[in-house]
Amino acid sequence: MMPSVVQVALTGPDAPFSGELSLPGDKSMSHRALLLAGMAHGTSRIVGRGPGTDVAATEQALTLLGVHVGDPVVTSPGVADWSEPPVPIDAGNSGTTLRLLAGALAARPYTTTLVGDESLMRRPMRRLVDPLGALGARITVADDGTAPVTVAGTSLRGATVRLGLASAQLRTAVALAALQAEGPSEIDSPPGFRDHTERWLAGLGLGRWISSTAFRVEPGPVPPTEFRLPGDPSSAAYPAAAAALVPGASVHLVGVSLNPGRTGFFDVLEEMGASVVRTVTGAVHGDPIGDVTVRGAALRGVHVRGVRSVRALDELPLIAVLAAAASGETRIRDAAELAAKESDRIAATVALIRALGGDADPTEDGMVIAGSARYRGGMVDAAGDHRIAMAAAVAATAADGPVTIAGFDAVDVSWPGFRTTLEGLWSSSP
Ligand code: S3P
Repeated sequence: MMPSVVQVALTGPDAPFSGELSLPGDKSMSHRALLLAGMAHGTSRIVGRGPGTDVAATEQALTLLGVHVGDPVVTSPGVADWSEPPVPIDAGNSGTTLRLLAGALAARPYTTTLVGDESLMRRPMRRLVDPLGALGARITVADDGTAPVTVAGTSLRGATVRLGLASAQLRTAVALAALQAEGPSEIDSPPGFRDHTERWLAGLGLGRWISSTAFRVEPGPVPPTEFRLPGDPSSAAYPAAAAALVPGASVHLVGVSLNPGRTGFFDVLEEMGASVVRTVTGAVHGDPIGDVTVRGAALRGVHVRGVRSVRALDELPLIAVLAAAASGETRIRDAAELAAKESDRIAATVALIRALGGDADPTEDGMVIAGSARYRGGMVDAAGDHRIAMAAAVAATAADGPVTIAGFDAVDVSWPGFRTTLEGLWSSSP
């Protein structure tokens, strides 16, 4: 994100509220659907893709490669006929765009350079080099391990790739390269990752599970297909948290992804004492979708660690914000990756909580939050990070005074309409 001067002051509701919401299309799935549609030769349809600038970055990248990206129709010459981009591809703020493209481009017969905004240019990219290198890909990063990432396309051969991190981005990058390799590949990692890519590839006949974490990719052309994308559970988490904070409040969230790699937040919310009711209503290529109803309660502190931390990773700042107002201490562990996101989310979350009158301390792999605080309001810096901006807005739900958020427009990355939706929810009567 560019440094921003957009500042908004939010004043939470006077009384318990109750509403029903649909959410923006899932961001993780939007990137994947666009890349798979872009790799397929022919016409695909992607209904319900996410509205933010991150998804737009993937759309623009594919356009540069010669894919015609309409909504909902995407028409492509197929990955084998992607054109050589005349300029570096700019992934903006989107780590998923950059990392997935590194895999998708690894077998093209030309060199591509991938860059991003100031935040993305600080994030770790060396992690791409060895996993993709195992297939023969030639990926280079800057000396300090960041972008620009250079992908010198070459022919790939299938390989067994064991990742040290439970990263869905890395798994997907390797899978997109493996589809274009000579011979099958196996991808394994620690558990807890969102497995949208694996479920979809299995559904398209391009791979299968060989253990609970290891997936075998069978190379082959991606068929053009139709994706009907659900709402984003990582966006749904914010109104869910707002309702959870207010005893007597509730929100009904319609049609969100219930992929097990995405539902860690709802598990934690339940453990904190909120009522969370999930109902599976369908699936997209084998990936479950459903409704979630959250009712507020007096929340209590929790310990979040291990696989639970991976399954709730993007929502850990929000959990910390709830925890500061809950009774008792909360410890978040095994979440060192938080420091490598759009901002250093350990530092930014601790600063957010303290700025509003709560008590939190950073640790090496997470945070300790004292709990039992009453948010008084104040000024928060979004740190150029959409999830910090939205977490601060949720704190306003239970604050005594207004919460002013500097750099609030960071929310455009995933949910441009977030403020309107949250304020609409606050004012909806039971
Ligand atoms: C994502 C994977 C996660 C997540 C990110 C989106 C994806 O990152 O934090 O917001 O769409 O694959 P990691 O792969 O780094 O865990």
